[in-house]
Amino acid sequence: MRAVTWHGRRDVRVDNVDDPTIIEPTDAIVRITSTGLCGSDLHLYEVMGPFLSEGDILGHEPMGIVEEVGSAITHIAPGDRVVVPFQMSCGHCFMCDQGLNTQCETTQVHEYDKGAALFGYTKLYGQVPGGQAEFLRVPQAQNTTIKVPHGPPDDRFVYLSDVLPTAWQGVAYAGIPEGGTVVVLGLGPIGDMASRIALHQGRRVIGVDLVPERLARVRGRGAEVLDLRDHEDDLGDAIREMTAGRGPDSVIDAVGMEAHGSPGGKLAHLLVALTPDKIADPLMQRAGTDRLNALYSAIDIVRRGGTISISGVYGGETAPLPLFTLFDKQIQVHMGQANVKRWVDEIMPLLTDGDPLGVEQFATHKVPLEKAAEAYDTFQKKADGAIKILMQP
Ligand SMILES: NC(=O)c1ccc[n+]([C@@H]2O[C@H](COP(=O)([O-])OP(=O)(O)OC[C@H]3O[C@@H](n4cnc5c(N)ncnc54)[C@H](O)[C@@H]3O)[C@@H](O)[C@H]2O)c1
Ligand SMILES: [Zn+2]
Ligand SMILES: [Zn+2]
Repeated sequence: MRAVTWHGRRDVRVDNVDDPTIIEPTDAIVRITSTGLCGSDLHLYEVMGPFLSEGDILGHEPMGIVEEVGSAITHIAPGDRVVVPFQMSCGHCFMCDQGLNTQCETTQVHEYDKGAALFGYTKLYGQVPGGQAEFLRVPQAQNTTIKVPHGPPDDRFVYLSDVLPTAWQGVAYAGIPEGGTVVVLGLGPIGDMASRIALHQGRRVIGVDLVPERLARVRGRGAEVLDLRDHEDDLGDAIREMTAGRGPDSVIDAVGMEAHGSPGGKLAHLLVALTPDKIADPLMQRAGTDRLNALYSAIDIVRRGGTISISGVYGGETAPLPLFTLFDKQIQVHMGQANVKRWVDEIMPLLTDGDPLGVEQFATHKVPLEKAAEAYDTFQKKADGAIKILMQP
């Protein structure tokens, strides 16, 4: 089959690889019809090379048609239409019972002391072949599939794999009180969708980014927006001015470890040296190279007693944090990979009954899988108005 494979920094290719087969009775094989390109893939594209091997198949946002199931799989059958969550989870362990699918004890990656295995996401998460491919082997298929109806276009359902539950969890973890305000930092697919969900729930949303079309799109949904380029040094003050001098109840960090970012300190210099072209613009240097910039902003912006919800992925183990400020302001922090299955039942009615979140128009680009290399490049550069790219094998 054809699959998107990693070959080095900013080097992905579409290669011929072996077709996946059923290995365990709990497996299923899915023929992929749509598969998303995610900000998380950009981390692999740029900085996470040490944790990948050449030839690893990328991708964790797929959906398609069941081709074959193992002997233990009874709830889906060949011909069914399914979305595949980005994490594998069993559905019957201590963690899954609590809706903590990203901590599933059946798929945890003990070798690296990490949570549930993820599709196409490094050795740290099991080095499981990913979903940017014609076919995907789905382990623990009894819980790692979401059956969806035939008929509506893939766009209706494909974001259940990641974007929707991640944004949904981001909003839930933000604990925005009724009548309250949330600031969403970063308006890529995750921040954009989180803004839509919070607006749908009747909250006031202030979005922050530095890419004009991303700001425009979220403003178009009814949020207020601030362009980071206009508030390099006074973002917190500008937001306090809009929120009774106090700051918002909640902040969602939907930026995380930027693909062209760096964790600060020694590694920062190394990474800056590696990525001069992407960050020629001085603002991009500040926004993009200090990977704690968004988190520091969140700590500054959120009101005393408020909540920071971190959806953006961080990977540093020694990041310096202003603990005194966090303590003094009595800030709550809630974070983690999204527990996909935990949220599906709450989200599904918004996909089958009208389209209040606008998922059918969410993708800005749809390209054949063969164009993956170009798609990664375009998405990383935020070129050509790219906000969300779907690939079709
Ligand atoms: N928790 C999860 O389960 C989960 C799932 C999917 C994605 N993610 C993570 O969420 C993050 C966002 O993903 P995405 O697909 O939207 O990616 P993206 O890269 O398209 O979006 C990030 C956005 O942040 C903006 N930005 C950069 N620095 C900023 C700053 N200092 N302040 C405000 N905005 C800034 C960028 O311009 C960009 O629009 C990534 O870190 C990704 O890995 C987490
Ligand atoms: Zn993703
Ligand atoms: Zn489990």
